[in-house]
Amino acid sequence: MSSAVPSVPASSPVRDLLALTRRPEVISFAGGLPAPDLIDVPGLRAAFAAVLAGDTGEGRLQYSTSEGDPDLRRALTAVEARRGIECEPDDLLVTTGSQQALGLVAHALLTPGVPVLVEEPSYLAALQVLRLHGAEPVGVDCDEGGIDPEALDRAAAKSGAEVLYLIPNFQNPTGRTLDAERRVAVAEIVRRRGLWLIEDDPYGQLRFRGAPQPPLVTLPGMRDRTIAVSSLSKIVAPGLRIGWLYAPEELRARLVVIKQATDLHTSTVDQAAAAHWLGTADLDAHLARLRAAYAERHDALLAGLPDVLPPGATHNDPAGGMFCWVRLPDGSDAGALLRRALDRNVAYVPGAAFFAGPPDPATLRLAYSAETPVRIAAGLERLADAFSGAA
Ligand SMILES: Cc1ncc(COP(=O)(O)O)c(C=O)c1O
Repeated sequence: MSSAVPSVPASSPVRDLLALTRRPEVISFAGGLPAPDLIDVPGLRAAFAAVLAGDTGEGRLQYSTSEGDPDLRRALTAVEARRGIECEPDDLLVTTGSQQALGLVAHALLTPGVPVLVEEPSYLAALQVLRLHGAEPVGVDCDEGGIDPEALDRAAAKSGAEVLYLIPNFQNPTGRTLDAERRVAVAEIVRRRGLWLIEDDPYGQLRFRGAPQPPLVTLPGMRDRTIAVSSLSKIVAPGLRIGWLYAPEELRARLVVIKQATDLHTSTVDQAAAAHWLGTADLDAHLARLRAAYAERHDALLAGLPDVLPPGATHNDPAGGMFCWVRLPDGSDAGALLRRALDRNVAYVPGAAFFAGPPDPATLRLAYSAETPVRIAAGLERLADAFSGAA
């Protein structure tokens, strides 16, 4: 007798592409990776040494609670306060990267067949999580100011969705930020329609221009209906796999049980090292260094980009984060052009995979975070060569 294995959605095309771009000769605008040279390796090495020093096997190498290390949760309340979210350690659940937070929330809130409202386009691995739980992502129109509140209201009415997933700062993949007026309008729609909001913000601390916008969870009436998700991946190191979520009490209690059933708890030693690092590093100085470097890399990309793109192409100019969004002229296929780019040892991510609905094949995402300005300039020359004469 043969037993059937339940099917899962195909592997992410972006993950598959990233494997190709690991070759040193490739200049990669593909992955949303933090710059390796900006990770505080000595500080993290010291943090791991400190938390293991003198451990008898009863501490940082033992099982721990599902909610997360109390020292880490205390340190994360300070990180939350920086972005205007006042909370207590008990309000937070530590997760194995913010990706796990998305999975836990999907498990708690979604049933097969339900629609979930998302920005169009949106973070590919969030679409993957939603689909894995059988939900149907419904793309809502966006422009440079973020999600369009009128389109959101219409889509909420039409779909009957009860959940909205948003990345309000320097969105993945577009680099767009939801503007201040629209935050108020979106919050009003969320309240009026009784939606849950999943507010995913791994990039907000990486603003290098302009004033920070308030998280939606801090707007009136939003605390009871928002799950605010964030991560150390983009500001400390993704290999730590430390994310967290704020959720209202009743939902958080359910999420703790789901977390328990998923992986018992996030690595004890990684949590302790992250708490140690946050307690000893100068986070202000560290973030200032990241912002300055990303501003420089953004500027290097934007300085050369207009000359590289074919006539009729457009691109945006994000004020922070890691990504720039490009639309090639009508009729272009960024997926097909990628082959020409890879032949020239330069990579980007075609935009099509990020769409919940019909994809726009002319779009692509350029990440400027992981390459130096010198390599960005060289990468642009290769891109120009890939794009020229390819019509
Ligand atoms: C919008 C968004 N959310 C969540 C994640 C997952 O990050 P992590 O699991 O490393 O915290 C990413 C990673 O790129 C992201 O771009």
